[in-house]
Amino acid sequence: MRFSTILLPLAALSTSVLADGASILNALSTISNATTALNSSITSFRADGDPLKLIPILIQSTTLLSDINDGTNTASSSANLTVDETLTVASATLNLVSSVETTLDNIVGGEKLFSSELVSPVIYLNLVQEKSATDKFSAAVISKVPESLQSTAETIVAPIDTAFTAAIAAFKGQL
Ligand SMILES: *[C@@H]1O[C@H](CO)[C@@H](O)[C@H](O)[C@H]1NC(C)=O
Ligand SMILES: *[C@@H]1O[C@H](CO)[C@@H](O)[C@H](O)[C@H]1NC(C)=O
Ligand SMILES: *[C@@H]1O[C@H](CO)[C@@H](O)[C@H](O)[C@H]1NC(C)=O
Repeated sequence: MRFSTILLPLAALSTSVLADGASILNALSTISNATTALNSSITSFRADGDPLKLIPILIQSTTLLSDINDGTNTASSSANLTVDETLTVASATLNLVSSVETTLDNIVGGEKLFSSELVSPVIYLNLVQEKSATDKFSAAVISKVPESLQSTAETIVAPIDTAFTAAIAAFKGQL
């Protein structure tokens, strides 16, 4: 009896510690899935330029923005990550970086088509908001990473900023 009353709070404690890395991983997975869904809709629109296909793009873009903002809240309320959690989060982040890069390439490749449907200014504003939200999300996650790994973490997410800056530049002339 005594043993279990000592062990139970300990078990609860270790679960909540693990849950922080897990909740950030879950946020990354949500963001990654939202990115892939948006990318598919962009590919579909680019295939035939059907203006009706702009509707899912705008909805999924809004969903993505809200998923990124949710991720920031999750990361902000997370405890500091252990080294093991940091490695898992880093690996999921590397995958997300590459998804974001190919999705932004896909958006930039469709620029003329978006422009002919007069939605380039909307895409531009979405990109600006998504970049800003992503910067906040990255900063929130990196603040939970052990200090000795923070500069490596910055390096891992840096290509996202580069890709957003290029995409924003491609749409800026359309405002
Ligand atoms: C993301 O998609 C994968 C594959 O469909 C799925 O297994 C996973 O549960 C999804 N992640 C979230 C957070 O919904
Ligand atoms: C986005 O779509 C492009 C073109 O279909 C594809 O090459 C790329 O791999 C896709 N990326 C993701 C994350 O789905
Ligand atoms: C979390 O880590 C940061 C450095 O990355 C440190 O400044 C802070 O004191 C840590 N917080 C706790 C509660 O350990």
